[in-house]
Amino acid sequence: MASEQLQQLLNEQITNELGAEMQYLAMSFWFERENLQGLASWFRKQATEEHEHAMKIVGFLNEWDLSITLKSPPSPSTDFENSESVFAGALAHEQRVTGQITKIFSLAREESAWHIEVAFQWFITEQVEEEVTARDNLAKIRMVGTNPAALLEFDRSISA
Ligand SMILES: [Fe+2]
Ligand SMILES: [Fe+2]
Repeated sequence: MASEQLQQLLNEQITNELGAEMQYLAMSFWFERENLQGLASWFRKQATEEHEHAMKIVGFLNEWDLSITLKSPPSPSTDFENSESVFAGALAHEQRVTGQITKIFSLAREESAWHIEVAFQWFITEQVEEEVTARDNLAKIRMVGTNPAALLEFDRSISA
């Protein structure tokens, strides 16, 4: 069983993950315009993963016989000042998602909805990984600074 509030959070999380997909696509397109294909394809891959997260939750809701109300995510941010601001935005975005996942996990525990808690353990672990990667990338792009050779090397290495 799951309360109305928990069901609503689960539904919202589908939208949040689809929003993350859109955000990463927008970041990918930005790097494409900057001729940084490695970074563009890396963000494209992240977008695909976010789509899979949304579908994973859809799968859970179906398994638990809960109804799905699909809502549109807000438009992604598109006007980035530079590469660093894209990565800073990605980290901030992942931190927001961690907050959303934690909220679902906590409520599931509060309601003794163990099946939901167990299912969302995967997302908790995933968010730790995503934040580690986002922090690591942000640190690296800061080291790159305004050095074009270092930026090209980062672009090459991230796509490998
Ligand atoms: Fe996600
Ligand atoms: Fe993510």
